[in-house]
Amino acid sequence: MCVFDAYGTLYDFNSAVARHRAAIGPKADALSEMWRSKQIQYTWLRNSMGDYAPFWQVTGEALDHCLAAHGIADPSVRDRLLGAYRTLDPYPEVPTTLDRLRRAGVRCAILSNGNPEMLEPMVQASGLADRFEAVLSVDAVKVFKVDPRTYSMVEARCGVKSDKVCFLSSNCWDAHGAARFGFNVVWVNRASVPDDNLPGKLAAQVKDLSFLPSLLGVA
Ligand code: LAC
Repeated sequence: MCVFDAYGTLYDFNSAVARHRAAIGPKADALSEMWRSKQIQYTWLRNSMGDYAPFWQVTGEALDHCLAAHGIADPSVRDRLLGAYRTLDPYPEVPTTLDRLRRAGVRCAILSNGNPEMLEPMVQASGLADRFEAVLSVDAVKVFKVDPRTYSMVEARCGVKSDKVCFLSSNCWDAHGAARFGFNVVWVNRASVPDDNLPGKLAAQVKDLSFLPSLLGVA
């Protein structure tokens, strides 16, 4: 079974800022990068504090920090960016890759930090809902990745043992967390960055998801 991370792996979080680049101006790319970075840092910090909040709230709180840091005070920018976050674009190779896996009979699911209220509209809007037998949200266990309780949702909900799971994430920290847990992990290294020095041995690395079917021998 293939289990995919959502943000950054299947769905392009930069597509929110890209859609509103004109309203944001030259700081757009820096804002997008900082937003993602703060969003993820906040999940790790909330895990350490034992103070879970839905990813939608964390995403808004991270954005507020970044808008302040970039001196962007126009509230319509906040509304537009968060609105776009509900309908992020899938990466270009994602629909055809999922079709190839489906034709080969490979079971597919999502496991994401996103709460259902933000994941479901995004998956629906992308037209990919029928490619996944489950869209698992860490909101059910009220803790974020890389807490092992998040990865254990796959066996609990899909009945697949961890050593039979192929987990795909573009987030190197998530990839290591999942490998440490016991999944076979393929790191989708879209940004061609060096590996992180963290526990958990990664099984393979690909540039994007188009390489997955042949890696699994189902091309
Ligand atoms: C997710 C984030 C980590 O979808 O990308 O879980």
